[in-house]
This record gives sequence, structure tokens and C-alpha cells, in this order.
Amino acid sequence: MAALRKGFTASALGRLPLLKVAPAAVRASSWWANVEMGPPDPILGVTEAFKRDTNPKKINLGVGAYRDDNGKPFVLSSVRKAEAILDGKKQDKEYLPIGGLAEFTKASAELALGQDSEVIKSGRYITVQCISGTGSLRVGGVFMSRFHQASHDVFLPKPSWGNHTPIFRDSGLQLKAYRYYDPSTCGFDFSGALDDISKIPEKSIILFHACAHNPTGVDPKPEQWKEIAAVVKKKSLFPFFDMAYQGFASGDTNRDAWAVRYFLEQGHNIALCQSYAKNMGLYGERIGAFTMVCADAEEAKRVESQLKILIRPMYSNPPLTGARLAATIMNTPDLRKEWLVELKGMADRIIGMRSQLVNDLKKEGSTHNWQHITDQIGMFCFTGLKPEQVERLMKEFSVYMTKDGRISIAGLSSGNVGYLAHAIHQVSK
Ligand SMILES: Cc1ncc(COP(=O)(O)O)c(C=O)c1O
Repeated sequence: MAALRKGFTASALGRLPLLKVAPAAVRASSWWANVEMGPPDPILGVTEAFKRDTNPKKINLGVGAYRDDNGKPFVLSSVRKAEAILDGKKQDKEYLPIGGLAEFTKASAELALGQDSEVIKSGRYITVQCISGTGSLRVGGVFMSRFHQASHDVFLPKPSWGNHTPIFRDSGLQLKAYRYYDPSTCGFDFSGALDDISKIPEKSIILFHACAHNPTGVDPKPEQWKEIAAVVKKKSLFPFFDMAYQGFASGDTNRDAWAVRYFLEQGHNIALCQSYAKNMGLYGERIGAFTMVCADAEEAKRVESQLKILIRPMYSNPPLTGARLAATIMNTPDLRKEWLVELKGMADRIIGMRSQLVNDLKKEGSTHNWQHITDQIGMFCFTGLKPEQVERLMKEFSVYMTKDGRISIAGLSSGNVGYLAHAIHQVSK
């Protein structure tokens, strides 16, 4: 150390004028000179622009987090009560097992598949606690990449949640797409989807949003799901469900799980990702689950062993707090009841905002057909607004949304929906 310091001093003294630039020179020869600046996240970019805007009427419809009717983040009363229960227990903070908290994973599988599910009764499934929906998708994606030898192609609906592509790409899968959204109707392109799915090579993986499709808010109807399930079976495709909004779409957790349960009834063995970010408002707690439905309990054990091998070097084991909260809520009858009422309250507020927006657009004098706003479901609405209209909304009215015209209905309230209707009418008349 002393010799090093001495060497530096000697060379610095020898070239005194260069001394000032020496730190910069050191930085210029950095290890990461080859690292290019990456593009900013499109949704965070919207939030940044919103924050800079000084217009008191500004509205941010970019973020996918629920807000109450005062535009404030909302913590469920059932969550607060679960926190109080846990606080009173003064539990330790030891590590969870690799697969997570058993009381949570069991309750989570039952919430998704139904308590009377044959899959649950026969034990032919494995559920592991993961880091919210994103972490569940990543664990599932890596499992598919490692063990689904028949195909590494995963077909996403067009469009899909923006993070699906990098999650599955980084998991080692090849990204493909099937038609889903029809811009001419702002609805589901049922014939396009069926046509594309029927041409997907056998054994490929196909991703479905179980309910409240993000970003379009467009879900297949039960009759349409039935036809989709039949084609998936005919082509021996592997159905991979992302259920990030169970209960948040219709207000009823059973109704929102209909497609998942129908596929199981039809004999499909599926993969399923769950998130408690939206339906419990536990966004930052990062609580979710990955489930693989298997041929039998013995296969489930083998799959479980490999999921653990895959998770251990990723993050060792999942976090405690969210799992304890979600498990306490789901496993305490009074809290569960209260949670389901609150969940319905959130879904109903969103459904109500959709109707109010359409009514206010009519009051403004808009003659366009805005029915898709009420037909679509869940947190997001694909308005059908064009990029130049989105640009005008931002510049002239301080209304912020992603360029594709997607708005988060959760960002609307009785205080700002009228202003939004006015602004939309001004740019679309
Ligand atoms: C379709 C979809 N899947 C998964 C997620 C994952 O969210 P999180 O990781 O916060 O649970 C989201 C969140 O916006 C989503 O919209």
C-alpha cells in the first residue's frame, strides 16, 4: 500500500500539470466505456413529464396503481388489520423456505383454482411464492426455458404488457405473437386470434392474460375462451396464464378466474402466475406466486425440486412480510370477507369511472362511439386515441398517458373525470 502511494506521488510530482486531469483520465479508461445509455422506461418517462408540469389541473393516467376518489394511494383496511395482527405476534425474521410460506402458497393456489378444485384435492400441482407477478413470470419463464424441451417459442397477445417481452427474452425464450386487439373496434380480434393460434407450431407456449388484459382492457368472453381452449388442445400448445388482476376486473375473484378454471376442467395442465400487487394493493411488498399444474403428485414433487434449484441462486428465498400479510388476510375468515368487499369496491369504482367518462364525453357533445370504454375491463383502457391526439392532450391540457393511448382508469376520480372528457373531446372532435 505504502509503495503504491509512493509510486503515485512520484509520477504525479514528475508531471505536475497533468495532476488535475488524472482522475478524469482514470474515469475515461473505465471498465464500462462500452456501455451505451439505454432508453428510459416509457411509463416512468410519462411520470417524469407529469411531475415537471405546473398546471394545477394536470392528470397522470400513465401509472398502473389504484388511487382512491381523492387521487390518493389506497391501503386496504384489511391490510392494516393484518398488519396489526402480525405486529402483535412479534414473530421472528428468519428466512422462509426457498418455495416460500406454506400458509400463503396453499391459500394462493386455492384462490386461483378454487377450493374444490380436483387439482388441489389430488395434490398434482406445486405453488411457490415469488417476487410479485414479475418474479413469478421470470421463475416460470426460466423453468420453461430449462425444461420445456419441445419448444422455446412463447406466443404473446399483440399487444401485451410491456414487460412480458424482456422477462421471457431474458428467461431464454423466443418471442412470437398472435393477433389479439382490433383497433377498428377497440375490441377483441377473436377471428384473428383463433386464426393465428391455429397456425402456431405444436407444443409452443402460449401466454394468456387470465382477466383484465393489460394494456387493452379487452378480455375474451366465456364462449370465446371455450373455442380458444379447444384450439390450444388440438395444437397441443402449453397454456401459460398471467393473472395479475384476480378480482380487480369484475370485483369477484371466482369470476375473474373463470378462464383458468375452464382450461383445467378441459384437461389442460397449465402454468399460472399470480400477483397481489393490485388486488390487495400490496404493490411494493412484492408478493406473488407461480403454480405449475402437473400430471400427478409425483410429477409435481419433481417439478418442485427443480423450481427450488432454479430459485436458490436467483434470490435464495422470498421476502416475508407480504406473504404473512396475504396469508393472514386469506386465512382469517373475517379479514378475507372484508378484503373481498374492499376488492369489489375498487373494481366498482373503476367500472363507475368508465361510465362517467362516457357520459361526460356525451355531455361535452362528442358524437364518437365510446362504448369500448365501458366494454373494456380492469385498470386500463385503450382509448383508441392517436399519437398526435395523445401529444395534444399532454401539451394543451396537461393530461398524461402512454403514446399508445392507454389510460389507467384508476387515475380518474369524480374530481377530474369531467376535465378529462373535455380534453378528449377537444382533441377528437
Ligand atoms: C399483465 C401484468 N402481469 C404482471 C404484472 C406484474 O406486476 P407486479 O410485478 O407488480 O406484480 C403486471 C403489472 O402491471 C401486469 O399488468
